[in-house]
Amino acid sequence: MINTAGLRGDYSKAGPDYAVEQEWGEYTPEEHALYRRLFERQSNLVPRYACPEWIEAIGRLDAARKIPRFDEISSKLKARTGWEIVAVPGLIPDDAFFTHLANRRFPVTVWLRRPDEFDYIVEPDVFHDFFGHVPLLFDRTYADHLYEYGKGGLKAMRLDAVKMLARLYWYTIEFGLMNTPAGVRAYGAGLLSSGGELAYCVEDPRPRRLPFELERIMRTDYQIDRYQDTYFVIDSFDQLMRETAPDFTPIYARIRSCA
Ligand code: PHE
Ligand code: FE
Repeated sequence: MINTAGLRGDYSKAGPDYAVEQEWGEYTPEEHALYRRLFERQSNLVPRYACPEWIEAIGRLDAARKIPRFDEISSKLKARTGWEIVAVPGLIPDDAFFTHLANRRFPVTVWLRRPDEFDYIVEPDVFHDFFGHVPLLFDRTYADHLYEYGKGGLKAMRLDAVKMLARLYWYTIEFGLMNTPAGVRAYGAGLLSSGGELAYCVEDPRPRRLPFELERIMRTDYQIDRYQDTYFVIDSFDQLMRETAPDFTPIYARIRSCA
């Protein structure tokens, strides 16, 4: 469980699955304007640094001017890959998170950061969750993989292996890179929504960019408060799907026995 008392969102109206109403009408003009500025800054970077699947999807979303209405996005998403957005107050416990993914529901935080958090924010907000994660849910393979990840998360809870599985999420869904004909590109949401790390992860000579390797990822700790010094690079979402398909039970056991 997480202690929601230390978190920023309002959990008082959340249901047992942590879902809330988006209450779109409550966003202020200042919040829409801040969202628009965040969107503009990232939009200038993504043509150079984002993977083609993300660029393809954002084009059909019409989400540049205002904080999007989740119900509108959900109907488009549902028609395409069967996913929908569920509004949440912020971070939610593992079991609720995995259960949403295993039902093709992606939890998106309702609140937006403050203007002084333009460049960096500790807890994920609606800009990170929406801009970083939602476009790729239009890609069938990525969407199917995330559904499998959700089911794998519930299984990992039973096996007491969430920490190892969370590293996979971190180095793929949040900070993953992909080889493309144009060079290495970002597909991780933490990169796509970052003003600084998006260029850094692709261009800076300092970080290591290692080929995707499941067991190594599951053994690799990560830092949440600075740019990564190691990225893992996939060749395609098909590869990600393929390499995460085997039963993780013996892999968890092996890693544990070496730890
Ligand atoms: N294959 C994993 C398991 O057996 C489940 C999984 C699939 C996890 C895809 C992550 C991504 O536990
Ligand atoms: Fe995220």
